[in-house]
Amino acid sequence: MAVDVILGLQWGDEGKGKIVDYLATNYDIVARFQGGPNAGHTLKFDGKKFVLHTIPSGIFREDLMNLIGNGVVIDPITLEKEINKLIESDVKFSDRLLVAKKAHLILPTHRYLDAASEAAKGKEKIGSTLKGIGPTYMDKTGRNGVRVGDILADDFQEKYNKLKTKHMKLVKLYPPIDFDLEAEEKQWFKSLEVLKSLKQVDGEYYINKAIKEGKKILAEGAQGSMLDIDFGTYPFVTSSNTISAGVCNGLGIAPNKIGEVIGITKAYCTRVGGGPFPTELHDETGEFLRKEGAEFGATTGRPRRCGWIDLPQLQYTIMLNGVTQLVVTKIDVLNKFDEISAGTHYHYNNGDHTELPYDIATVKLTPKYKSYPGWNSDLEDITDYDSLPTNAKSYLDALESYLEVPITMISTGPERKKLILKEKSGVAV
Ligand code: GDP
Ligand code: IMO
Ligand code: MG
Repeated sequence: MAVDVILGLQWGDEGKGKIVDYLATNYDIVARFQGGPNAGHTLKFDGKKFVLHTIPSGIFREDLMNLIGNGVVIDPITLEKEINKLIESDVKFSDRLLVAKKAHLILPTHRYLDAASEAAKGKEKIGSTLKGIGPTYMDKTGRNGVRVGDILADDFQEKYNKLKTKHMKLVKLYPPIDFDLEAEEKQWFKSLEVLKSLKQVDGEYYINKAIKEGKKILAEGAQGSMLDIDFGTYPFVTSSNTISAGVCNGLGIAPNKIGEVIGITKAYCTRVGGGPFPTELHDETGEFLRKEGAEFGATTGRPRRCGWIDLPQLQYTIMLNGVTQLVVTKIDVLNKFDEISAGTHYHYNNGDHTELPYDIATVKLTPKYKSYPGWNSDLEDITDYDSLPTNAKSYLDALESYLEVPITMISTGPERKKLILKEKSGVAV
């Protein structure tokens, strides 16, 4: 059986958590393959709301296994908080949550370094979530990291101390910041006991055995393709490969085991943190999108920057990921517009282009737009595609024909059930 993938095609927060939770009943295993507690995946059902940072979004579906893959970086403190929320809500998870031994640990000093390095950048700052993501992946590729599988070894404390010592030297490179390391370490070691209580697996063997047994697996991405370390708006990116190629490294599966690649885009576009965003709106329309879409970060609470959908940007990430089907979320956020715009070209270097330039972080891009009539009505209770207002269908048809990938799902609200299935996708029920 192939591994299907769900990932974000913009700058994150496309609604991945909601769609994974919805589709999870079609799968046996949901596996996170990269990122860490910088992610915030919101799930709403039965009047309840959960925000997951490390735990896969399949956890609320009974009988379904959830794997935190080797490509993920784990902060035991955040993980414990997430687990406590599950316990409070009486979710039985202990035999359904597995952690790959090769996943790397975020130490308190990784967060210390992240905060010190960001503060030192001043106006140039990335807008990191300050969860220690960059420094942890640096230690992974620098071959200094501490992994989940090390926790139970006799020399764990030694490994921890060695890395901490290195970090304490590095942090002196930056101007001093407030960071209560002692308190953070105390909490970290307490939370580590919770992580120790989870079942550790050799993730790559676990997943490949499951594939062989015909189990259905859904890989859940974090962040978005424009935050990919290689192909995103560097250096305003995260530190992992967020694109579908990351599934292979992040779970230990071969490229030929990838099946459907389900790319999610909002019906407009957002970004949180610094960096280029060609179709950003700095006017009242952007403000209106933020208000209607409740665009505030699920992890940091920061206001998200808002703008129109950017079609060349989506073409780019569809190409990088090999997207086979599209999900358009938050279409309801556009309900009150008389007119909706979509970016179709960029003007730079005296010409119109549909390719993003290498130096996107410095070159001045002016987007060009096409306008579509709005539908000015509520989509709240619509459950089938044909009942959507004609103008909403025309907008979706225009996206589909421009992007040349079928739209199979349309999300009309934050709740689990607010989803229109456009056509049989082979994945959705
Ligand atoms: P993720 O990181 O991709 O999982 O997305 P987030 O959870 O960070 O942000 C998506 C936000 O939009 C959350 O607050 C969701 O509850 C909400 N949401 C998801 N789908 C829809 C939708 O179709 N309409 C509206 N209005 N909100 C949605
Ligand atoms: P989900 O999975 C949106 C952004 C940060 C910052 C940059 C680097 O919820 O879609 P990092 O903490 O990784 O060093 O931050 O990436 N960022 C996200 N933006 N959604 C996310 O995750 C993000 N994870 C990181 O705001 O600009
Ligand atoms: Mg999010």
